[in-house]
Amino acid sequence: MSGERRFPDGFLWGCATAAHHVEGNNHNCDWWEFEQRGGILTGDSADPACDQYRRFREDFQLLRRMNNNAHRLSIEWSRIEPAPGEFDVAQIEHYRQVLLELRDQGMAPMVTLHHFTSPIWFARQGGWAAAGAHEAWLPFVRRVADELGELVAFWCTLNEPNIYAYQGWLAGEFPPAHRGDLRGAYRVLANMRRGHEAAYDALSRLTPAVPVGVAQHKWLMLPATRGRRRDRFAAGAAQFFMDRWPAGRRWLRVVEAPADYLGLNHYTGSLVAFSVRHAGEGFGRRFNPPDLPVSDFDWPVEPSWLRTCLEQLRRLRKPIYVTENGLATTDDRRRVEFLHDVLGQLWLAIQDGADVRGYFHFSSHDNFEWARGYSMRFGLVGVDWKTQERTVKPSGRVFAQIAQSNSLPESLS
Ligand code: BGC
Repeated sequence: MSGERRFPDGFLWGCATAAHHVEGNNHNCDWWEFEQRGGILTGDSADPACDQYRRFREDFQLLRRMNNNAHRLSIEWSRIEPAPGEFDVAQIEHYRQVLLELRDQGMAPMVTLHHFTSPIWFARQGGWAAAGAHEAWLPFVRRVADELGELVAFWCTLNEPNIYAYQGWLAGEFPPAHRGDLRGAYRVLANMRRGHEAAYDALSRLTPAVPVGVAQHKWLMLPATRGRRRDRFAAGAAQFFMDRWPAGRRWLRVVEAPADYLGLNHYTGSLVAFSVRHAGEGFGRRFNPPDLPVSDFDWPVEPSWLRTCLEQLRRLRKPIYVTENGLATTDDRRRVEFLHDVLGQLWLAIQDGADVRGYFHFSSHDNFEWARGYSMRFGLVGVDWKTQERTVKPSGRVFAQIAQSNSLPESLS
């Protein structure tokens, strides 16, 4: 590829995090309880993670020096509303300072209102699987909008309802660690849909100038053999349940939910072959394409899949933000190469007509990767877990250059 590949003016370059990934000292949520019960596969603790609850100023200053002009973060519900209907003024003030610092650093905040963690009181009531869960969530949503809305550039109501329901109620890797609980997963998805719709209405009313969306995870399901109808059927069924949530008797695409923009989290995909022995998984056996490299998570890496996802979203004719994309690897040279390749695909998608307005890399810092603790390295910035010292990786410098020039260089530097 030759010639300059520029991104649209005003394109947002940022990184994505959730509170529990980076903040530390987050003890009033279900993930902390889960950790105390031995739920983290590596035995690691999310305290202090990157200690960003205290170090947010220096972290944001660093990201600004890396030319980020936006940042995706979550506001921790369990801090703001430690007991039902009880709001902690000091914690609201803390997040005000966080958002003000982003503003001072010239970074547009995208604020996620639920990113995998829930207050212990909510989890004890059955969490998102319980009847009325969406109503229990709304007072928090409204309070944050009222108090902090003027400092927010984008709302992201929920992070990845599909992965959340799957990991918590089917695979057992996230709290409440149910396995094979199809009814539970169904209820979670149904309640999250209600929660998103109610939050969309409330936020649109309270902060009409702030676009509202949801970050949907797109795991591509591809037929193992394109020419085989049964494989196409199995892949289609797997994609159907990956992409939708229930609304009464219907299953609606999450990307067609009320939203002002489309938020895409994309990392990987699977091949799916029809198999009668996999009835529980929609008659599909999922596996990695044998010819593709994998990340440390054992997820296949194929940068062109991002373009495929964007091509599908393009038809919905809404602004798109890539709300997460990245690579788990300890070999940062691979991340440098990945950035060039995947951003090249993003640029091509824009040339195809996709209205992509921003890219949030996952993640800014190496951080606490849920059940995998500190074993997965997604960051542009390394963190020394003993001293909390930050070191910008070569990939961080590449990202900074791309963000600064708002274009892709012809070759790897
Ligand atoms: C989630 C992140 C997570 C990342 C890597 C995404 O599914 O939104 O919270 O850390 O994947 O596993």
